[in-house]
Amino acid sequence: MYCVRNITEDLYWVGGNDRRLALFENIHPISRGVSYNSYLLLDKKTVLFDTVDWSICRTFIENIQHVLAGRPLDYMVINHMEPDHAACIEEILLRYPNVKIIASEKAVLFMHQFGFHIDGKQTIVKEGDTMSFGKHKVVFVAAPMVHWPEAMVTFDTTDGVLFTADAFGTFGALDGKLFNDEWNSERDWIDEGRRYYTNIVGKYGPHVQSLLKKAGGLDIKYICPLHGPVWRNNFEYLLDKYDKWSRYEPEEKGVMIVYASMYGNTEAAANDLATKLVKKGMTNVVMYDVSQTHVSYLISETFKYSHIVLASVTYNLNIYPPMLNYLSDMKALNLQKRTVALIENGSWAPQSGKLMRECLEDMKEMTILEKEVSLNSSMKDDDQDIFNDLAESIIESMK
Ligand code: FEO
Repeated sequence: MYCVRNITEDLYWVGGNDRRLALFENIHPISRGVSYNSYLLLDKKTVLFDTVDWSICRTFIENIQHVLAGRPLDYMVINHMEPDHAACIEEILLRYPNVKIIASEKAVLFMHQFGFHIDGKQTIVKEGDTMSFGKHKVVFVAAPMVHWPEAMVTFDTTDGVLFTADAFGTFGALDGKLFNDEWNSERDWIDEGRRYYTNIVGKYGPHVQSLLKKAGGLDIKYICPLHGPVWRNNFEYLLDKYDKWSRYEPEEKGVMIVYASMYGNTEAAANDLATKLVKKGMTNVVMYDVSQTHVSYLISETFKYSHIVLASVTYNLNIYPPMLNYLSDMKALNLQKRTVALIENGSWAPQSGKLMRECLEDMKEMTILEKEVSLNSSMKDDDQDIFNDLAESIIESMK
């Protein structure tokens, strides 16, 4: 059964939702599912903007057939080649053998790499190229590394519609709500939008900045990403978040405490520090057990808060493995500009503090507080002063 929605009079959303997939990219949990968006324009020519993941191909085809209502499909614009959007290219070619593919040179290369048989059907476009489909004229804008090197965005200058590939997307199925004003941004979008951005595109902040600058020169009425809602207002909110995230600036002054604890002693120390911070007036404190929280959530929160406390037990003379994994992800995603405090624990050779410091020193513009706590097995009454000093030092660094 088809399920489509109009965006403008002649532009339709023809995508779908996947609520069965447990892990996006086989790594990120998506408890609320994900949408794969595709858009179909009915002009003098008919134009499909991107396809969808193989998992929802049946619905996708039914949607296209319903909207076309017997018309041929003339063009397929491919903005992004990752298979969550490009998997159904060959299925479209089989059903609409006369369709012409419009894509960047690198996207065409990727089509060959993925084994698609497209020869003779492609038109390669580059930055600034334009094309008319009748009433609608589009311009193609390169968006390399947002999120892959072949990515581009397409701007419909007639109706002000920007097809943004992965940019401005989010985890979470649409649940019938296609437009951003049908979502509550702070309740429904922000946490999953941030987790999506930071884990999928977070590494490529400078490239996102470049795209934001290009988009700033366009008269945009609709932002159509490949995941999540279509934005038709409140652009300032969306662009402000993307600007902060891509410059690696925190959203909030606050303290995120991430602890690695085997038997509860490091956790008790982290609890004590959190309590001292709150008692001293810093109430914007959140705590996460690194073993219990998927690293994609930790990364998202790390992009949100200004100050991070890492408390880790020493394990096999190294950093506790889940904490090491978190630190590796921070580095891989280019996280920077945070102030970090360290607590180490170890029963005979504590050295996780030194090792975490080395990891952090390998990242850009990280401020590591000099005050560092080293515990032998557990926090004692005698440690109250050094924990007070650590809390003071964190608060002082916020001024
Ligand atoms: Fe949603 Fe980079 O693909």
